[in-house]
Amino acid sequence: MKPIIFDVDTGIDDALAMAYALNSPELDLLGFTTCFGNVSVVEATRNTLAVLEKVGKQVPVYMGAKQTLMRGEKDGNSKHVHGEDGLGNTLKKAPMAQAESKFAPDFMIEQVKNRPHDITILAVGPLTNLALAIKKAPEIIPLVKEVVIMGGAVKVPGNASPYAEANIIADPEAAEVVFSSGLPVTLVGLDVTMKTLLPKTKLKEWRATEQKAAKFFADMTEFYIGFYESNYPGIGGCALHDPLAVGIAIDPSFVVTESMNIKVVTEGEEVGRTVGNVEDDPKIQVCTEVEANRFLDHFLSRVIG
Ligand code: RIB
Ligand code: CA
Repeated sequence: MKPIIFDVDTGIDDALAMAYALNSPELDLLGFTTCFGNVSVVEATRNTLAVLEKVGKQVPVYMGAKQTLMRGEKDGNSKHVHGEDGLGNTLKKAPMAQAESKFAPDFMIEQVKNRPHDITILAVGPLTNLALAIKKAPEIIPLVKEVVIMGGAVKVPGNASPYAEANIIADPEAAEVVFSSGLPVTLVGLDVTMKTLLPKTKLKEWRATEQKAAKFFADMTEFYIGFYESNYPGIGGCALHDPLAVGIAIDPSFVVTESMNIKVVTEGEEVGRTVGNVEDDPKIQVCTEVEANRFLDHFLSRVIG
């Protein structure tokens, strides 16, 4: 089993990614760490605990950054994408469990030092927690086995601006810290995630299973598909951004990658843009093609448990 620290900003696709990971025997989830992003960090932590409760699994949750490295609180929110509660307005009551007291970046540092060359960090929100961890303890950089990041738009347009993807524009300086650190990053950007679509017809199949979590996931995902239908007319589903990062942590053969260096634009109209170049010993594995149908079948075989 692959030991994983899973860094989330739990909105709807994070929740689907969590369920996929929690139901995957290849992954050993050491802890979830939470970040502001789709919602505030307090809401992301609550949502992460709520999803764990729905899936019926116990994994410790560590609250992390409430704001960006250098820009204070993030402007705006993603409530039009993920709902007022971040889970498509499905949350009926607060979860029973509570987060651990340790700060998320400190949990990352502790775990990586305890298990050198063993841990995969899977990050599907703004990169603030990981940036804080490596700024505080740069000695962990060569000890991290792998970092799989959902973020960026290298050869395609952005989704938060014409240039930038949401997780990167949420904290561009944090992303720049991570991409320039030498960490062994696989970048799962819009280049591939916009090709992995969950069709609405699947929600009916989930409801018909009568599994405990199925109605929750179907209701939540219906809200998310509604956003995609209004914003990308004719798209035929919602993009499985964060679940694809989980899929690649389980089976990297879902994608083709190209080695690049990535610079993040931190000023001006193109802020948050991830610019790839192949010169100077490129270190980041950028996903450029995906076997979308094979990935979708794998995701569907696990997400509802
Ligand atoms: O651009 C997609 C990403 O932004 C996903 O991680 C989604 O959850 C949002 O955070
Ligand atoms: Ca996310």
